[in-house]
Amino acid sequence: MASFSRAVCSSSLVLFFLFLSFSEARDHLVGGKSDSWKVPSSESDSLNHWAEKSRFQIGDSLVWKFDASKDSVLQVTKRDYVTCNTSSPIETYTDGNTKVKLERSGPYYFISGAEGHCEKGQKVIIVVMSEKHRHFMGVSPAPSPAEVEGPAVAPTSSAVNLKGSFLVALGALLGFLMM
Ligand SMILES: *[C@@H]1O[C@H](CO)[C@@H](O)[C@H](O)[C@H]1NC(C)=O
Repeated sequence: MASFSRAVCSSSLVLFFLFLSFSEARDHLVGGKSDSWKVPSSESDSLNHWAEKSRFQIGDSLVWKFDASKDSVLQVTKRDYVTCNTSSPIETYTDGNTKVKLERSGPYYFISGAEGHCEKGQKVIIVVMSEKHRHFMGVSPAPSPAEVEGPAVAPTSSAVNLKGSFLVALGALLGFLMM
């Protein structure tokens, strides 16, 4: 029994620190490089290609670096994203060193404010993982923006979260108490 408790305790501790490192809020440089906010040269170079490989959680931030005299970032509705309509953005970011905090789960739509750039593919959908769909220990690839039908549809991905950390902390505590 004692060795079982010790095993539970030590593995709980390992998991606890693992979860701590996972649940930190992160900054995501959109496109992965400082010059990524531009018309993509090919489909595989597209920003959505990058976004599909990334995992976004509530509390994370998106960061854009661009020449503020030539470009901007517009947060728009899904409809304006699809049609590249720059006339009534939800938010406009023009400072060239833009940081946007992701406060909710679901899709965010961004397009370039530079004339003609959105039509040439300078646009990105960021899908923030849903809190209620996260599962303890669950790890799965980020949902593809193409699978997202609209704001009402929550992405069905899972991830480690803060709640998981607390559970593991509790487990570690119990492990100590049982020793
Ligand atoms: C762009 O959006 C505005 C405001 O929603 C609308 O009035 C306009 O007709 C749209 N333009 C196009 C080309 O769809």
